[in-house]
Amino acid sequence: MKLKIFVTYPLAEAAIQKLQSHFEVTINAESRALSPAELIQQCKDKDGVLCLLTDTIDKSFITACPSLKVISNYAVGYNNIDISAANDRKIPVYYTPGVLTDTTADLTLALILAATRRVVEADAFVRAGKFKGWSPDLLLGFDINGKTLGIIGMGRIGLAVAKRAEAFNMSVVYSATRDKGLPHYQYMGLEQILQTADIISLHLPYNADNHHLINAQRLSQMKKTAYLINTARGPIVDEAALASALIQGKIAGAGLDVFEEEPKVHPDLLKLSQVVLLPHIGSATVDTRKKMALMAADNLIQFADGQKTENVINPQALGA
Ligand code: GLV
Ligand code: GLV
Repeated sequence: MKLKIFVTYPLAEAAIQKLQSHFEVTINAESRALSPAELIQQCKDKDGVLCLLTDTIDKSFITACPSLKVISNYAVGYNNIDISAANDRKIPVYYTPGVLTDTTADLTLALILAATRRVVEADAFVRAGKFKGWSPDLLLGFDINGKTLGIIGMGRIGLAVAKRAEAFNMSVVYSATRDKGLPHYQYMGLEQILQTADIISLHLPYNADNHHLINAQRLSQMKKTAYLINTARGPIVDEAALASALIQGKIAGAGLDVFEEEPKVHPDLLKLSQVVLLPHIGSATVDTRKKMALMAADNLIQFADGQKTENVINPQALGA
């Protein structure tokens, strides 16, 4: 018997076709996120769900879906899913690591350059008709070459950012749960990184332990000339504290692709020209989104075939 799968968003056609050849598939045809109640309504009789990072897969959802056997998240981050509730029901949770690493690292560099070289502000300046001619002191920015990039969280994406930073002649220091012994990059404690780096870029998965890791006290340890870049998850940063630090000149600028309560953005940040704000587009390219959809579909297929896969977050749910 084919498993019944609910897909919470109309993803790439190639992935949908693949799913349809293995499963009985129902798709949310509307291009919007479903409410928790709608999600339960759709999933309560399904065997599996292919969901987005905007779908809250919490204990009450899992409890309300008694036949649920598998969850496939279309994302590398999985803080939208209560893994321990999934474990309790022995439901494996799959994700899409690897395929979005380079795309997200590229966007991180775009944010670093946009913030330090005032690209967005300069574009607005031209469009406002303010460009009256070249000038020695027009829109002066901050050089990244020869500077120090501090990477907090040295996983796949952090490492891909480090490689790019080398090409820009930056030195890279990092903090992570442990010293990874990486030859070109120096391991440091968090406090030391905050004090040393000219640009700090966050690349950790979000969980309760790093909620507001970057708070007022840590922002005040950063250099006054430093920039904070976040392409990981919004709640790692205390957004109100960041807005105050920027207003008070405790740091120079920021580049944010993620926010504490998406799609909301702290109103003070919207007023600050030294911050570049993006709507969570780290992995948003045509090719990468297709790869993510295919991987999320393949993860379900491998589950149904009884094959173990590398992309399972909680192998214990598979009895591994
Ligand atoms: C995007 O934010 C992801 O986690 O894939
Ligand atoms: C996150 O899981 C990463 O790919 O760095």
